[in-house]
Amino acid sequence: MKKIQDAQIADKKILVRVDFNVPLLKNGEIEGDKRIREALPTIQYLLDNHVAKITLVSHLGKPDGKRDESLSLYPIANRLAKLLKNDVKFDNPADEYKISDKISLLENLRFNPGEEANDPKFAESLAHGQDVFVNDAFGTAHRAHASTEGVTKFLPSFAGLLIQKEVEKLSALLKDTEHPYTVILGGAKIADKLPVIKNLCSRADNFLIGGAISSTFLAARRHHLGKSLIDTEDLREANVVWQSLIDTPNRNLYLPKDIVMSISIEKPDDIQEVDVEELLQPAFEDYSAVDIGPNTIEQYQSIISDSKTVFWNGNMGISEVRSFANGTVEIAQALKELSQNNEVQIVIGGGDTVAEVEILGVESNDNIFLSTGGGATLEFLAGKVLPGLKALE
Ligand code: 3PG
Repeated sequence: MKKIQDAQIADKKILVRVDFNVPLLKNGEIEGDKRIREALPTIQYLLDNHVAKITLVSHLGKPDGKRDESLSLYPIANRLAKLLKNDVKFDNPADEYKISDKISLLENLRFNPGEEANDPKFAESLAHGQDVFVNDAFGTAHRAHASTEGVTKFLPSFAGLLIQKEVEKLSALLKDTEHPYTVILGGAKIADKLPVIKNLCSRADNFLIGGAISSTFLAARRHHLGKSLIDTEDLREANVVWQSLIDTPNRNLYLPKDIVMSISIEKPDDIQEVDVEELLQPAFEDYSAVDIGPNTIEQYQSIISDSKTVFWNGNMGISEVRSFANGTVEIAQALKELSQNNEVQIVIGGGDTVAEVEILGVESNDNIFLSTGGGATLEFLAGKVLPGLKALE
């Protein structure tokens, strides 16, 4: 991968793809600015190396190729200006936000249909007037879009500091690691997680499963999950993966022993802590799984405390409802404690999951790395080729 440290950048105009696709609150305010903060080292590196101009580009959300004011980057331009200690304020959507003499942010790339279509004309228009392209958008590296892949055909292209750090930390999970090596997976969309299990099953020792994906695994093992979220089209594949893991010596796939069920998934309603054995009969048909139960938490925490290498993506329950966040909080706490041991390597990915450990005051350090990628991190660990990274080779 070509790195910015190898590029001639002094007095050059630099186009920088960042991933400012940050979570927004319903009122449009930024919920978490980690992805903006993580772009700062590359911006500072470019300034320190006397570039002429930095043009930042990013997407936000899924506006489907149309202007959508609720997905304008102006709140993000304001947060970036604040982080860079520049005294400017943008109140309305615009095509370009001039943050300083040298730094501009363009409006949401996905307002143009050419971005997601990887239209060469749109890629060329982004490259127009620029000298060098720097990609620092690790979170979007799994997309072959005009600003991640197409543009590299028009400009000398290099990886920024964030992409370099992400690749280094994630690659380490695919090499010789210290054992026991534990992979914790939760959240929804089992189709994104099964390829990770398959790719890591020759490397990791333990797979701890929670969240909606555990409901799909349990349903595939003939449990009755009532109204729980289940990926019905993936039941067969889930069963195949489960079977292949239990057939492999020294590999353990753990499904919850007990789960918390509620009639409503929006608030606690007739909460039940259910032993999964009870779900071999259709006894909780009006209920949904909302969290892992206390016995599962205890078992998972004990496995985590003995681990030397851990990867975690996906929350253990519907943690946006805080009454259903107990499993997620307890796993985050176990990883915080583990990270205080010097001989461990922990990587956490996915916006919601990273947010849970950040609430506990955990930041990236030598033992723990909080990835800015969600889908990109999973695809990297599934062994897939990420088009945004391949284009920088
Ligand atoms: C992400 O949040 O995973 C990246 O910003 C990519 O966003 P996308 O899933 O909308 O392509």
